[in-house]
Amino acid sequence: MRLWGNSRLAQTRSPSLGGYRRSSVTHERILTTEDTGDTGAHRGKSSDPPPNRLQFPSMTVAVRSFAKVNLGLYIGAARVDGFHDLRTVYQTIALHDVIRVSVGRGSGIEILCKNKDPRVPLDSSNTCYRVAELVLEELGADGRVGIEIEKRLPVQGGLGAASSNAVATMVALELALKRKLPAAARLRIAAEVGSDLPLFMVGGTTLGVGRGEEVYPLADLPSVAMVVVMPEVGVSTTQAFADWDALVQREKAAELRSAWTGEGARPHTIREQLTGLAASDRLIEVGRLLSAWLSGLPNTGASAKWGSRAGNLLSDLVRTGIENDFEKVVFPLYPELRDIKGALECAGSRYASLSGSGSTLYGLFQSRADAAKAVSRLRKQGLRAVATSTLTRRKYWEQSLVVGR
Ligand code: C5P
Repeated sequence: MRLWGNSRLAQTRSPSLGGYRRSSVTHERILTTEDTGDTGAHRGKSSDPPPNRLQFPSMTVAVRSFAKVNLGLYIGAARVDGFHDLRTVYQTIALHDVIRVSVGRGSGIEILCKNKDPRVPLDSSNTCYRVAELVLEELGADGRVGIEIEKRLPVQGGLGAASSNAVATMVALELALKRKLPAAARLRIAAEVGSDLPLFMVGGTTLGVGRGEEVYPLADLPSVAMVVVMPEVGVSTTQAFADWDALVQREKAAELRSAWTGEGARPHTIREQLTGLAASDRLIEVGRLLSAWLSGLPNTGASAKWGSRAGNLLSDLVRTGIENDFEKVVFPLYPELRDIKGALECAGSRYASLSGSGSTLYGLFQSRADAAKAVSRLRKQGLRAVATSTLTRRKYWEQSLVVGR
């Protein structure tokens, strides 16, 4: 890729592309029902299962399904397939859902949301269902698949939870079936189900291009303290992209009007940003910006020590002015989200942003102590704030599969 020729694309293969091959990703370390002797589905007499539990005689594989945030997100032109080209840097974070997959005799796919969140679909529209269907088809495998989702992350929150759940399902299902998909098939299935899935097959700091599904592992940024604020409201990504198109159209019309009337030497407006450059030129500019940011970082590397390296990263982010385009359409519709970004900044965040199309906002902090202080301050303001940290690629794969029931 020309644009990114000089950027610090990691030389290592993604663990996922190499076949979940990290040391921790082994059957021995996964706590399964074979270990515990408890399927969860057969507590009590097998003839008398508790209501609302799935019934699977075989082992259960449990996988943590981590969230992501976007460190900058730039939207380009709408494409003929209805998607938009974009450039973003994805970063996995330590907040997660838990996915449990079981395979038993029979056929069909059954989804259960452990905490009964009504916003989680239990039918074939669920990304986990779609992935499971495609994995079974690709492997030519049979069986009754049970998928239990323990929802902790917000739905429609911009943290990629549904996409992450789907990738966790793929990981767990392969392990439960004791069958492996070729790496190319995994990526194909992921991209088919959604633009945000492939990033979770890489983890850590990842460049996203194309419609977001084309991912490149970057040299990992160090773990940084962060605060995530999860507002009650959910934002539809499809709607946010449509709002973006409407904004571009409005700005183009204003541009034309001002060309006719001679008025309109407004300095540095959104219009200038959106229409001053053609959408594709703009993405080239953004590519340069992100590339300069990444290659200017002296502090990449998963083994980074806490402290100064994180500090450098934060200053770099702020200095480079990395932004999320969705803020331009989401903040006017939900002014309370702009206020939350302001509250994060007032609470000491060095860099705050909407994640994806929202509604989640995050702030990066110099230290865990600063993040903890910010959380108590934000909670006093009535906000649902949690302290967490970014998750390097190594930790992402180490921690994904090591989970108790
Ligand atoms: O790929 P995913 O299912 O997450 O996309 C959901 C919707 O978001 C798409 O149907 C499309 O309307 C919009 N989208 C887009 N451009 C992208 C990604 C998503 O327009 N790059």
